[in-house]
Amino acid sequence: MAKNEPKGGLRLAASCLFGLEGPLGNELRHMGMESVAPENGRVLFTTDMAGLARANIRSRFAERILLVLGEFPARSFDELFEGVRALPFEAWLPRSAAFPVEGWSLDSELRSVPGCQRIIKKAAAKRLGEKYLVSWLPEDGAEYKIRFSILKDVCRITLDSSGAPLHKRGYRPAHNAAPLRETLAAAIVDIAGYRGRGELADPFCGSGTIAIEAALAAKGRAPGINRRFAAERWDAVPRAAWDAERAAALAAEYGGDYHIYASDIDPRAVALARENARRAGVERYIDFSVADARRFSRPTENGVIVTNPPYGERLMEKQSAAELLRLFGGAWRATPWRLALLSPDEGAEGLLGARADKRRKLYNGMIKCNLYMYGLNNKVKAGSAKR
Ligand SMILES: C[S@@+](CC[C@H](N)C(=O)[O-])C[C@H]1O[C@@H](n2cnc3c(N)ncnc32)[C@H](O)[C@@H]1O
Repeated sequence: MAKNEPKGGLRLAASCLFGLEGPLGNELRHMGMESVAPENGRVLFTTDMAGLARANIRSRFAERILLVLGEFPARSFDELFEGVRALPFEAWLPRSAAFPVEGWSLDSELRSVPGCQRIIKKAAAKRLGEKYLVSWLPEDGAEYKIRFSILKDVCRITLDSSGAPLHKRGYRPAHNAAPLRETLAAAIVDIAGYRGRGELADPFCGSGTIAIEAALAAKGRAPGINRRFAAERWDAVPRAAWDAERAAALAAEYGGDYHIYASDIDPRAVALARENARRAGVERYIDFSVADARRFSRPTENGVIVTNPPYGERLMEKQSAAELLRLFGGAWRATPWRLALLSPDEGAEGLLGARADKRRKLYNGMIKCNLYMYGLNNKVKAGSAKR
């Protein structure tokens, strides 16, 4: 057992986009995590230091892996101060630790987030100052970001072990327009049941996120294998845990050939998607082309379309996006391919010309969307989607 590791294990919380708690819970169970308990927008679980590294390196659906320091009622600033001061910060934070504070409050007496930030900072500094017998903390060492949530007057204090959010895999530059979060793209590929068998196409591929996440999942490549995490600089988490987890993740990759197609009407999008796939190390698994989704067709029967077509904000854009969906729907219905289509348009089914077998509410950041699913439960692909 590593230094600072409590006997019962570490209690961690994986935060996620709303709607992804189910897939994230399953993913964590597959990674061997214990006492997995989904909540709104996060999943709690218990593990050890190796598991903390594993969750960061391997999770496809989590936004952050947070170490839970404690939870207590906080209806006033006094209660908040005392609750925070009672937590064992010194077990994790060295004297040099930098500890910025961020968080949110919902349905609670304490509504001012900046006010709560100030109090939490003060209380943590007080605790550390007393433990290290100093009146001033330099904060010039590794970062231990304190993240707090106050929900219905209960405050939870965590340390952010991830640093940059986990959807930042490192393959997509910041300037792409209207892209899908990598975590959401990975989740809809998972919900669509794609595991590297059969064919997958995204005919509105944009920057290629869906196809890239599909290729990463098919290969079993850990999405965080090439990036760094805040807790890699924490004294309490042994270097060996990160090295061993990276090596295990690499050893778990599959060799294979996959049939993933990504196309877009915009040649610049296709070039960008190809470049992103190259950076992600999966270019050879994806067939890129410039094509009009209104003429979607494939010669094969066993395939699934996973896609997120354009959605207009203004009236004119809305009308042309609706017309595009209608024409794409006609082309798709002429094929036996299954479909998982993510759209914020509540009228998408009418435009596609078919009632979905299942619908699932998901959030792309703050935008509420539906995943419209057709034929995904059917093992026999030909003519499987109910139309
Ligand atoms: C919402 S974006 C897709 C974003 C993508 N999921 C990503 O993560 O970057 C929609 C894409 O549809 C493309 N598009 C618009 N009309 C099209 C058409 N007729 N055929 C194919 N692609 C089209 C746009 O160029 C845009 O890249």
